[in-house]
Amino acid sequence: MIFGKELTEEEINRINEVQRDFFGGLVHVFDPPLPEGVPERLELIVASAEINKGDRVLDVGSGTGILIPLIRVYEPEIIFACDLSEVMLARLKEHCPYAHAIAADLRDLTLQADSLDVVFMNACYPNIVDKESSFANIGRMMKAGGRLVISHPMGKSFIDSLKEKSPFPLDDFPEQPEVERLLEPHGFEIQRFVDEARLYILVATKRHAACGERADHE
Ligand SMILES: C[S@@+](CC[C@H](N)C(=O)[O-])C[C@H]1O[C@@H](n2cnc3c(N)ncnc32)[C@H](O)[C@@H]1O
Repeated sequence: MIFGKELTEEEINRINEVQRDFFGGLVHVFDPPLPEGVPERLELIVASAEINKGDRVLDVGSGTGILIPLIRVYEPEIIFACDLSEVMLARLKEHCPYAHAIAADLRDLTLQADSLDVVFMNACYPNIVDKESSFANIGRMMKAGGRLVISHPMGKSFIDSLKEKSPFPLDDFPEQPEVERLLEPHGFEIQRFVDEARLYILVATKRHAACGERADHE
């Protein structure tokens, strides 16, 4: 679903192929130095997940891995980085060889059920074409109590400046009611919502199953 429209499997795959090629040719744009204030706001984004030592963390749409060294500071057990573009992941592996890079569409990721403590989606929400299947898969992989952080270090209006030049459709970052509608069926509740001119952070927590409720994978 993008712009609230249902797309066919063929359309989803076609848009993802265009993205894969587009980002494959854009690796240099993500190289440091980052714009003024962005490194500090990325630290705030990572801090909002409250990573504990030994946590299992996934960065979705990781690109070249700008979050990965900031995540590592918290001493997680493992960091997975998933992206559509193998070229982006090749750059990530150069400077973060300790991360486990997986070239895949988020909705097809096959990490174990209930295995992740934290999932980041930085500057990537507008790019996710099949949001229903993608958030269902995050809900499947996330442990109860796990945190999902959807963010952008330039704020949600930054996407407007990209739309004209983008060869594929880009969604807006969601307002709180919209994201509640999207995440609630997958067991998440919103903990925190920051929507400032140059910072967007949404933190959602996966609920613990109520007594008598069965988890999806059982
Ligand atoms: C704008 S870049 C952001 C990269 C990185 N998170 C950052 O903050 O620098 C968006 C990335 O999301 C990836 N992406 C888009 N849709 C995806 C999907 N369905 N599954 C995995 N990665 C995806 C793209 O390939 C691209 O590398």
